[in-house]
Amino acid sequence: MPQKTAIVLAAGLGTRMKSNTPKVLHKVAGRSMIRIVVEALEAAGVDEIRVVVGFGGDLVRQELKDRKEIKFYAQEKQLGTADAVKSADLNSIFGTVMICNGDHPLIKAEDYKAALDKFAGHDLLVVGCMLRNPTSFGRIVRDKDGRLSRIVEEKEATDIQKKIQEVNTGLYVVKSDVLKKFLPEIKNLNSKKEFYLTDLIYMALDKKLNIDCHKTDSARVGKGVNNHIELSQAGRQLYLRKARELFLSGVVIVDPATTYVEWDVKIGAGSVIEPGCMIKGKTVIGDNCIIEAHCQIVDSKIASNCSVKWGSLIDKSIVGAKSIVGPYARLRPESELGEEVHIGNFVELKKTKMARGSKANHLTYLGDAEIGEETNIGCGTITCNYAPDKKKYKTVIGKKAFIGSDTQFIAPVTIGDGAVIGSGSTITKDVPAGALGVARSKQFIKQNYNKE
Ligand code: UD1
Ligand code: MG
Repeated sequence: MPQKTAIVLAAGLGTRMKSNTPKVLHKVAGRSMIRIVVEALEAAGVDEIRVVVGFGGDLVRQELKDRKEIKFYAQEKQLGTADAVKSADLNSIFGTVMICNGDHPLIKAEDYKAALDKFAGHDLLVVGCMLRNPTSFGRIVRDKDGRLSRIVEEKEATDIQKKIQEVNTGLYVVKSDVLKKFLPEIKNLNSKKEFYLTDLIYMALDKKLNIDCHKTDSARVGKGVNNHIELSQAGRQLYLRKARELFLSGVVIVDPATTYVEWDVKIGAGSVIEPGCMIKGKTVIGDNCIIEAHCQIVDSKIASNCSVKWGSLIDKSIVGAKSIVGPYARLRPESELGEEVHIGNFVELKKTKMARGSKANHLTYLGDAEIGEETNIGCGTITCNYAPDKKKYKTVIGKKAFIGSDTQFIAPVTIGDGAVIGSGSTITKDVPAGALGVARSKQFIKQNYNKE
């Protein structure tokens, strides 16, 4: 089998994105376009991937730094697609070359594979597809026998050619020798003064090479992203693709049209995701969980049989099995709940560990705290973790403690196992295990105070 090299064109400015971020780094369903393309190519079984970068090239290299085997080539000036391919050091490529765009995130590995399969026996294969709105694409022009005769860019197309709905998807498979021979001969004699890769077609035909256009019926191959409208349309497709994958693995998504589960998220069978949820990053949710409407969960681990109720936000945190969080709860980064922990409405945690069976059910802030097993934190409890020296201090509370409502802990402070804190206390000193700590003014009664 000849060597298969993929060249990914990713040097374009992406002018229409009106953004300082290189176009291929814009995210679709939580992943950059370039990462999606590269991973599909890897899955399609190419031997080598070369990425041509230009504008923001360092950022693109940075984004793919986990892919040690990918080679990057700088295209100094964006002089057109033919010039971009030339930048990828053609002399060191042998065998088959697949050329693709870094801004077509909907292409699946199976589409790349199909192009490689269809290429067998050819010198050059172009992949075309039918689009309802072909504006801005190069059009596939066929002769009277239906054979590919050339590709005409939108700017050069006649009014009749503009009506052609079969477009060049920008995906090509070609013998490396053909590229080496013809690319240097391509001229920039067109309205954009660019070196068009698509000129290769008529040049190769002229030399009677065996070329063809494979018309794929997957319109996704042709769906490139040139502006934010197309970016959002691609996002919608990928969110739906993810939803479909989850449905098939036993997850219930009540309304896929309003649910956004990013690409890398994992969710176990039997879990239910209600409308309006965004589940992002590397989040892992176990089996049989219910994530009620309008929750956002980012880079977190939720074990099995948990319930995350209405409108909760969980960020970079861990939730143990059979726990209940929310409604309207906020777990900020580095919060860690053991099994069967209950976090109720308007409770905020930051960098706080709550051990198995502990509860903070109402209107509470726990920051830089450690709460032992089966401890109950009463309504309105606050850990005052931030001091005038601008440092953060810890509150440590043992197991089976009972914290009365409206307690403030002035950290650093430690409360022993089984201790009881009277409601309304401002606790500034440690309370030993089993002790009662009360720090509030005594009630006094003045009889007949109101004379009316
Ligand atoms: C190109 C094709 C067009 C096809 C369309 C599919 C040409 C001349 N035209 O047009 O037939 O229908 O793609 O989307 O090839 N790039 C570089 N360096 C450059 C110019 C472009 O790396 O100097 C990269 C871009 O980042 C992009 C790809 O090449 O990933 C295509 O470039 P773009 O400017 O989007 O070409 P189109 O006008 O869309
Ligand atoms: Mg384009």
